[in-house]
Amino acid sequence: MNQELPIRFCEPEQVAPDTWVVRQLAGEGLGPVATYVNSSVITGAEPVIVDCGPAITRDEWLETTFSIVDPADVRWIYLSHDDVDHTGNLMQVLDACPDATLVTTAFMMERMSADYGLSLPLHRMRWVNDGERIDAGDRELVAVTPPSYDSPTTRGLFDTKSGVYWASDSMGSPVPHEVSNISDLDPGFWREGFLGQQLLLSPWLTWADSTRYDRAVDRVLDLGANVVTSAHGPALRGWQIESACRLLRELPFLPPAKLPGQVELDAIVAMLVEAEGAAAGAGTDPGQVAA
Ligand SMILES: [Fe+2]
Ligand SMILES: [Fe+2]
Repeated sequence: MNQELPIRFCEPEQVAPDTWVVRQLAGEGLGPVATYVNSSVITGAEPVIVDCGPAITRDEWLETTFSIVDPADVRWIYLSHDDVDHTGNLMQVLDACPDATLVTTAFMMERMSADYGLSLPLHRMRWVNDGERIDAGDRELVAVTPPSYDSPTTRGLFDTKSGVYWASDSMGSPVPHEVSNISDLDPGFWREGFLGQQLLLSPWLTWADSTRYDRAVDRVLDLGANVVTSAHGPALRGWQIESACRLLRELPFLPPAKLPGQVELDAIVAMLVEAEGAAAGAGTDPGQVAA
């Protein structure tokens, strides 16, 4: 099998004068859709690293992130939740940024201790729960839970100066290839991908009380964000944010997402074996490759 990583870096995207998205695209070319794996950097008076990327691309993630902000200048490391694609380089960032405070929660800390034991520095932490704020010098940052999420610790981050809302895993969508603006996608493709991705993240939304759930969507809409950035999709702006919120309101009325099963797994394995055989030249025994 090909051992090359099925993930590549895209150019960081500047979404506001002092806000960047560090973008990676995973799975491109392996199927009909690929998925962004993003983090963010705010280069304000007190620079913030928002989520710490996956460990699988550590060297390039650190290089890219620290090409945007000098590690000595970083004052805050904000974790939106404790999933590994958001915490993969946390210890390296803590080491590289000695003046940074880790913004997390008690529950996140408890869950991460399974990986890090007692090496997480309590004295460098601030526990910030949903609705609470951080004064980052030239702006206030507000923790706001998004309307879909795959970890109970999730809080997005709203920047009151730039109007950028980091929605963590929420409000993203798969893409067929590198895309910076969903307006470049077929609207039906975006709609289907957006809804499917939220249902995978938050399967309980199919039995949520729609009236109560609407309040969670209203809360994000009422932020009046200029840009919504996401760990797993292109940034949204203007009407795109309103469209995304309309789609979010559909989720309680939809059936659960249909996950791939053994038939799909067999097809993927057969495709990989065939590709490996073609690369190795005629006469390769697919059974030997698969073993
Ligand atoms: Fe997650
Ligand atoms: Fe994620």
